[in-house]
Amino acid sequence: MANLDAMQFCVPSTDAEVNPLSEVFAAAYALPVAEARAWLDRAGVENVRMLVAGGEPAAGLIVVPMGQWFGGRSVPMTGIQGVAVAPHHRGRGTALRLMVETLRELQQNGVALSTLYPATQRLYRRAGYEQAGSRFEARLALKDIQLNERSFDIRPIGPADEETVRDLYRRRAARSCGLIDRNDYLWRRVRETRDGKALGFRLSRNGTPGGYVYYVEKTLPNGHYDLLISDWSADGAMDDAANGADFSCAEVVRGLLTLLADHRSIGSDAVWYTGPTDPMQFAMAEQHYRLKLHFHWMLRIVTLPAALSARGYPSGIAGELHVDVRDEILPENQGRWTLAVREGRGVVSPGGGGRLRTDIGALAALYSGFMSASQLAALGRIEADASSIARADALFAGPAPGMADMF
Ligand SMILES: CC(C)(COP(=O)(O)OP(=O)(O)OC[C@H]1O[C@@H](n2cnc3c(N)ncnc32)[C@H](O)[C@@H]1OP(=O)(O)O)[C@@H](O)C(=O)NCCC(=O)NCCS
Repeated sequence: MANLDAMQFCVPSTDAEVNPLSEVFAAAYALPVAEARAWLDRAGVENVRMLVAGGEPAAGLIVVPMGQWFGGRSVPMTGIQGVAVAPHHRGRGTALRLMVETLRELQQNGVALSTLYPATQRLYRRAGYEQAGSRFEARLALKDIQLNERSFDIRPIGPADEETVRDLYRRRAARSCGLIDRNDYLWRRVRETRDGKALGFRLSRNGTPGGYVYYVEKTLPNGHYDLLISDWSADGAMDDAANGADFSCAEVVRGLLTLLADHRSIGSDAVWYTGPTDPMQFAMAEQHYRLKLHFHWMLRIVTLPAALSARGYPSGIAGELHVDVRDEILPENQGRWTLAVREGRGVVSPGGGGRLRTDIGALAALYSGFMSASQLAALGRIEADASSIARADALFAGPAPGMADMF
């Protein structure tokens, strides 16, 4: 049996390293080896981390550098995907060791957060992650949309629309909580999905972009098709009207839904991934959509001061929160910190009264707004005086955290 401590953590670079690791991924995810290799190449071999035991790969994973939106700001976040341990190295802490080494590397690089979709929660809880948001599949029969908003100009998205699309997405993400700030790898997956190349359309009025949608028509056994939506935004209108929009987000949502409904002769359902609430659901006259929980995603605070100072806070609240944090895996996060919030921004300094005591996992659930401080206190994950709890409830409150992208 290979000794865990003797395993080396490294980044594979040569084919002599990547090819055997592809076999570990292939076995872990029931894939042909060539497909596993193509996955590593698409993600970028420089983003692969592995543990080597006696010259052979024992385990690997992929890091996906990107950002995640919290409180109107994009926070540096590294996603983790494809955690894979060779069958004969399982059940003795190999995956946990790989996660811990990866987290240490991320912390050394100052990354604020890490997020993942867990196939097993126990492993990631042990590494300091906690449930922090949801990903639902939303399904809506096109015939039930029953909207007729035709006041927008609609045209296919072309290469010249790249910046407009990214800007519209940014606006949507800034108003939400938990949406991904995509890197190029994830933007590619919006347009080239697992189900094929997406069609994209943008809506505008009097030349001002209002929104867009990307979808794939997925054929059903009866010859009809579902619209699988890989991305959308209806956020062209800004609150300050500085961009000259003479329309509201609500009108754009109805315009997008009308465009989808225009597929209803042969189209069956629109399917998209979302949090528990979103403007498309809100725009419907009746609750004909169905939500199915896909995952509760998990979040890890990797570099505490960076995480707390990079997110945004409600602009109407000013004050200090004094925390005392336990983190056995990344002890740099451990101890007392003071978060001072003013005008929507947070400044973090070491020390303080440590009046809110918690563990790094519970802090992640609080940070995203998935659980309130009051709820976490009732669950025994926070100990604090009443005023610290009330302040934490207010500082981290926001829209329900949801993620759409899968990685
Ligand atoms: C899941 C997987 C990565 C676990 O690897 P491993 O080396 O056996 O895990 P570890 O020994 O480090 O386990 C660490 C902790 O997680 C727990 N754990 C591991 N696999 C688990 C599972 N499938 N279900 C529940 N708990 C699990 C262990 O019990 C241990 O907790 P404990 O010490 O409190 O008992 C491995 O089974 C694998 O490669 N599976 C196929 C691919 C996969 O599912 N990857 C995860 C994608 S998110």
